[in-house]
Amino acid sequence: MSLTPSPEDKFSFGIWTVQYPGRDPFGDPTRAPMDAVRAVQKLAELGAYGVNFHDDDVVPFGSSETERERILDGFKKALADTGLVVTTATTNLFNHPVFKDGGFTSNDRAVRRFALQKVMRNVDLAAELGAKVYVAWGGREGAESGAAKDVAVALDRYKEGFDLLGQYVLDQGYDLRFAIEPKPNEPRGDILLPTVGHALAFIERLEHPELVGVNPEIGHEEMAGLNAAAGYAQALWQGKLFHIDLNGQTGPRYDQDFRFGAGNARGAFWVVDTLLASDYDGPVHFDFKTPRTEDDEGVWGAAAACMRNYLILREKARAFRADPEVQQALEAARLPELAVPTLAEGETWRDLKDAPLPDVEALGARGMAFEHLDQLALEHLYGVRS
Ligand code: GCO
Ligand code: MN
Ligand code: MN
Repeated sequence: MSLTPSPEDKFSFGIWTVQYPGRDPFGDPTRAPMDAVRAVQKLAELGAYGVNFHDDDVVPFGSSETERERILDGFKKALADTGLVVTTATTNLFNHPVFKDGGFTSNDRAVRRFALQKVMRNVDLAAELGAKVYVAWGGREGAESGAAKDVAVALDRYKEGFDLLGQYVLDQGYDLRFAIEPKPNEPRGDILLPTVGHALAFIERLEHPELVGVNPEIGHEEMAGLNAAAGYAQALWQGKLFHIDLNGQTGPRYDQDFRFGAGNARGAFWVVDTLLASDYDGPVHFDFKTPRTEDDEGVWGAAAACMRNYLILREKARAFRADPEVQQALEAARLPELAVPTLAEGETWRDLKDAPLPDVEALGARGMAFEHLDQLALEHLYGVRS
């Protein structure tokens, strides 16, 4: 198996992932700041295909116009020199104190207006750099206490924000779609649109639902105790998987943002299997943070490991699907039967209502043979079948 990343793999990284200096609520950074140019150069060396960035990852918040232009020139040069593609961009609406109560849904109207200005400005840059997806992670959109946020009214404001942005990209003629990234909590006590399901339902209420999809992060779904692969699968079913944030997490606890493949390895396997069975052809994007125990070398090792683990799991998922015993086990588990519509062609509820009842005792006694199927998957994952 080749574990060397190639451009066809479309591996992409958030610039913030490798920039993360190891600051946490209990301790100062353990690593030096890193500018976006170095991040681009090193990621290209490791075999990445593209990058994603928050406005402030590249141009520090509050930079002057001339400073912004100088920094962007250097960033564009690094992209041109390395051939890295800007797959995606996003806005930092969480770091500055102004966003302490959110961006699009802050109770403070002046903050909401500023947040939208900040997004539009970076959308221009994203479009100029060729990004096709604009991620919206509303980490500060939420509350710590009940009366502090009227959720229904906040959702009105959230919708207003996306409606405005949808109109903005249409009026500007940009080829750009938005991807909402759900998360249940952290940094807010409770975040609006906490899961893939909430986000999918919200999107249907927008003026331009076709412009908005989801960017599920494995760890965020697992923080909510959910099965990430199932969330990806439903997003795909609804034609809404616009982007993916792959990383690792160990169950419901703080957002660990481990490198992809660490944490719940079995969950990662099923996410890869789900993606391989789909028509998703966007970037294979990693959003991880290297633990603060590691130095600079450790950061690059972790970034390389995200891609390596994806390639390993891709190989294993393919081998699982190609295994003749798995094919038989799928038959035995009656997966092909699930694909057969419950009513026959031309049948209606009337025919069904009058049809003879089945032998329910016999049906109830039939085993589903799922455990054998799952054991085969585990054995592929554990490396004893190939
Ligand atoms: C998190 C989030 C963020 C967002 C990113 C994009 O770990 O809570 O994943 O990293 O993805 O900021 O806006
Ligand atoms: Mn996360
Ligand atoms: Mn993310």
